[in-house]
Order: sequence, then structure tokens, then C-alpha cells
Amino acid sequence: MKVTVVGAGAVGASCAEYIAIKNFASEVVLVDIKEGFAEGKAMDLMQTASLNGFDTRIVGSTNDYSKTADSDICVITSGVPRKPGMTREELIGTNAGIVKSVSSSLLEHSPNAIIIVVSNPMDTMTYLVHKTTDLPKNRIIGMGGALDSARFKYRLAEALGAPISDVDGMVIGGHSDTGMVPLTRLATRNSVPVTEFISEDRLDQVKEDTKVGGATLTKLLGTSAWYAPGAAVSGLVQAIACDQKKIFPCSTLLEGEYGLNDLCIGVPVVLGRNGIEKIVDIELNDAERDHLKTSAEGVSKTNGLLEL
Ligand code: 2OP
Repeated sequence: MKVTVVGAGAVGASCAEYIAIKNFASEVVLVDIKEGFAEGKAMDLMQTASLNGFDTRIVGSTNDYSKTADSDICVITSGVPRKPGMTREELIGTNAGIVKSVSSSLLEHSPNAIIIVVSNPMDTMTYLVHKTTDLPKNRIIGMGGALDSARFKYRLAEALGAPISDVDGMVIGGHSDTGMVPLTRLATRNSVPVTEFISEDRLDQVKEDTKVGGATLTKLLGTSAWYAPGAAVSGLVQAIACDQKKIFPCSTLLEGEYGLNDLCIGVPVVLGRNGIEKIVDIELNDAERDHLKTSAEGVSKTNGLLEL
């Protein structure tokens, strides 16, 4: 199993490290445009192999995509991260050109790859890959919901005073500060609905804290977060590589599902060796459906900024 991660910055390097530690891939290729940067990150990570107990080979490449040839899965993290006070959507001018060029270079050497998009604005970048490549829709996946759901579970556990391992919850919708739809109605603490434990007001606060989870960290860190984004995308890579048939909320092209068309947005999907094996059409209540529709309108508006 060969995985390429484009962008050896904090998110890409964290993703590569988590993939290596999980030890399911034979090789991870880290690519960056900065001379020697990916090679340095790869070498540093390889010097943790005996310490962290993995046999995955991590190699670095400065913009030479020949080393990525025949990758099974390619993760695109390249582009500029947001600064405090910025929205993800403000990155489109810089990142659209990068994502378009990177996806073309990747597919030139790995025509059968599954592409996972992380670069922001992620839903629109995922849509861009659809519009600029011939890949079938099951092989283009946007990572946002897995990260947002992890932040949702963090906030739920905090409100519950419970261990995270007891908590489950999912965020669908756009990966944006205003467009996320945390499904509080379906969240559970060890199979018990969290509404049994938390007041509606407190759940509303959990929802709001989840939506701005990325912005909260950007304000603290001065740049976008990287540990949780890297870990979230490594989980998608593992589900595909190991054909796990796990459900994740991922940004995928909708063609009528959830009453939405011609956009990529976060909905529950089954991930396996073919990428998106199935879009899971869960029953939403009217409020959840309205929130998803409003979220989709925001994503479509950002898509409209693309020069296709
Ligand atoms: C985040 O929410 C980078 O969009 C990513 O942290």
C-alpha cells in the first residue's frame, strides 16, 4: 500500500507520521515544493521508526512526482493555511491553483489513485478536483467532517465530564465556521442519547464551540491546527487501505442525495478499498435538513468563485 502526501507542512507531516505509526502502509511519499523540506521531514520521521515501532518507509521528494508513481492513495494538504481572523473561504485565490496543479501531477503518475483533499476551502477544493480531473466520484474524498466530528466529541466529552471513548457524534455539512451541522440529536454517551445528560442550552454551546473549533485553534496558534487534521485524514487513509467499510462524514459529490446536487459537502459515507463505497442517507429532522440546505448554499456560493 503506497500513500503520497503532498504538502510536508504541519498537517501533511502529522498525517504521514500517523499513517506510519499505524503501520498499514508499505511506503509514504512526502512531497513539497520547498527544497529539501520533504526529504528532511521524511528522514526525521524515519529516525522515529525504531522508537515508534513501524516498518513503513517514508521518503521525501522536492516537487518530483515520479517518486509518487503508482500510489494507491494521495492526500493533498498543500496550499496556504489561514491566519487568525481569516475564513477558510478566503484561501481560495491561492489554493485553487495549487490543488488543480497538484492533482494533475499526482494523476499523471498514479492514474488509479484515490484522492483525499484537505486543502481549504476544502469542500470547494474537492469540487474543483471533480471538475478538473476525470476521476470517478468514489475516488475523490474531502476530509473535513472526520475532523469536525472529533472536535464535536471533544466538546461533548467536556460537557458530559465523560471519557471521549464513551462519546459518539457526527458533524455533517460544509467544513466552514458557519456551515457545520453537528448532529446533537444523534450523539450518544455509551449508546445513551446525550440529550439525557446535557441541557439544550449547553448542547447549543457545544454546537457553537464545534463550529469554530478550527478558528479557536488558529487564534491560539497563529496558524491552522495540524495534529487533529493529520490524525483525521490518517483515519480515512487507513479505512481505505484496510478496506474497513467504516462510516465517516466526508465531503463528496452529491447528485440528488439529501436533496442536493452539483456540490461536494460532508455527509456520511462508507469508506473501503474503492474509496466511497456508499453514501449513507440517514433520516434528518426538518431543522437538520434546513441547516444542511443552508450550508450547501454557502458551499455553492464559494464554488461560484472558482474559475472553471
Ligand atoms: C481545521 O479546521 C485546517 O480546516 C482545518 O483545522
